[in-house]
Amino acid sequence: MSSAAIIGTGSCLPERVLTNHDLEKMVDTSDEWIRTRTGIRERRLADPGTAASDLAVPAATRALAAAGIPATELDLIIVATVTPDTLFPATACLVQERLGARGAAAFDLSAGCSGFVYALGVAGQFLATGVYRTALVIGVEVLSKIINWQDRNTCVLFGDGAGAAVLQSVPAGRGILGLHLGADGSGGSLLTLPAGGSRLPASSTTVQEQLHTIHMSGAEVFKFAVRVMGEASLKALEKAGLKKEDVDFLIPHQANIRIIEAATKRLGLPPKKVYVNLDRYGNMSSASIPVALDEAYRAGLLLRDHKVVMVAFGAGLTWGAAVVNWELDPPKGA
Ligand code: ACO
Repeated sequence: MSSAAIIGTGSCLPERVLTNHDLEKMVDTSDEWIRTRTGIRERRLADPGTAASDLAVPAATRALAAAGIPATELDLIIVATVTPDTLFPATACLVQERLGARGAAAFDLSAGCSGFVYALGVAGQFLATGVYRTALVIGVEVLSKIINWQDRNTCVLFGDGAGAAVLQSVPAGRGILGLHLGADGSGGSLLTLPAGGSRLPASSTTVQEQLHTIHMSGAEVFKFAVRVMGEASLKALEKAGLKKEDVDFLIPHQANIRIIEAATKRLGLPPKKVYVNLDRYGNMSSASIPVALDEAYRAGLLLRDHKVVMVAFGAGLTWGAAVVNWELDPPKGA
């Protein structure tokens, strides 16, 4: 068996900023409540005409440029998202066409906010077994399109964005060192978009009742997240044959600063080894980790041979953690 390593990253954020003060004018909330309960100050919102693939393509183009390979070299494209352009065809196929990667296998993956870590794991298997050599993994969300902007419990939490990583097969012992994915479907109703699928197809009633928007039991999801973020990281480290003392950098899913702090404490890490950008972007679901990874890399925080842990939880309920040996030097000028 070989392994798979990240050889380039990229991201794309919409330009429009929605601050907590803007939200104060929309729902009964306050900047103080949002900051102290979540750590979020502002988030990015896509324009009405922007769909997931419109953010995914520039993120992927930047990742390919960083990797120094043309799109024609891609064998596989996986797009992790809960906000695809359409239910079908897969957003991955739209991205494939726009990148000019015709012929590459392409599919979407739905694992809520754990989507990017799941997709990294799936792509990693194809590369480790020698089925494919080069893969593109994208996490992208346009959550602003499925938010109930009258529901203060959810509308303050989310943002839009895309992040991408190019993976290539490498000898065993490099790249992805450990992976732990899991799910507990008994918690499915805690975080759901109830209508628009085969259970509740779109109708005027589903639209009137806001059933095409995010429904979340925040406190339940919070408790689950605090538990699994630490547990999943430790399991992935165990599979990698590493201890928590070996971790150089943690890239956690960016949902709530209190959840990140709990995971940081469980792993015994100093805050400077943990990347946080949720103050600027909110929770971008599948896009949170790849955007954070790209920012950390471009800021020169990730050094060659660093042991980097990515860990997420999300709708499903799902969780996932990956431990990677970072195989890139910081970009010039970082
Ligand atoms: N402004 C002001 N008050 C608010 C707001 C708001 N925006 N939202 C909720 N409140 C109120 C509630 O109504 C409640 O009032 P009540 O006691 O009078 O009923 C009070 O604040 C406290 O609510 P709690 O739910 O107890 O607040 P908590 O400290 O748990 O924080 C939060 C809520 C931020 C949602 C937290 O539970 C959380 O982060 N949960 C995790 C959510 C998450 O990470 N989801 C990610 C997965 S997303 C995906 O996969 C697509």
